[in-house]
Amino acid sequence: MEIYLDTANVEEIRKAAQWGVVSGVTTNPSLVAREKRDYREILEEICALVDGPISAEVLSLDAEGMVKEARELAKIHPNIVIKIPMLPAGTEAVKRLAEEGIRSNVTLVFSAPQALLAARAGAAFVSPFIGRLDDIGQDGTAVLADIVQIFRNYQVETKIIAASIRHPWHVLEAARLGADIATVPFAVLEKMYQHPLTDRGIERFLNDWKNAFEYQKV
Ligand code: E4P
Repeated sequence: MEIYLDTANVEEIRKAAQWGVVSGVTTNPSLVAREKRDYREILEEICALVDGPISAEVLSLDAEGMVKEARELAKIHPNIVIKIPMLPAGTEAVKRLAEEGIRSNVTLVFSAPQALLAARAGAAFVSPFIGRLDDIGQDGTAVLADIVQIFRNYQVETKIIAASIRHPWHVLEAARLGADIATVPFAVLEKMYQHPLTDRGIERFLNDWKNAFEYQKV
């Protein structure tokens, strides 16, 4: 399973890219709003840092508007993927964009039937929001499991991005279930590195080394 970063913060992306584990980025209007910067500029910088799919979201709610915005965003870089909300107008836009060779990521997916519709329209990616389902007392990973199963049944090529990830456990569940990608906030990526035994192990190795070879320094 690939790891994407779910942020519009260029500094976070720069760090994660240096760590060598991130193969794509997803942004959304809320994440961009936090940055208080020009979206186009942000996307250009992200594309220079990560050589993989970079999702940029449209704001229009009608198909014509979505397609128009998507064409402009797609001009920024060949790696740009257009995030389109899960609506009838959205699937219409996805289909039209696919015919023009522009890849889409259908977002705000909360059920398997929605994911199936996105795939049928020709979406390159579909993003079920696991965390937001958990937030309202539903089982986000169960929805993800259904989508993986259905896409496998019919050899659907649309890639599944486990989104709205809240903690490393969600990443583990997504990988177990067979999602293609998990898009994680930077804080979750940092947590994925952490284990107290790793810290303790490093401390012990360094202490043992220091105690055994201290004399060499004098
Ligand atoms: C996915 O592409 C979205 O940007 C994101 O995962 C939404 O997550 P949230 O529920 O934490 O806002």
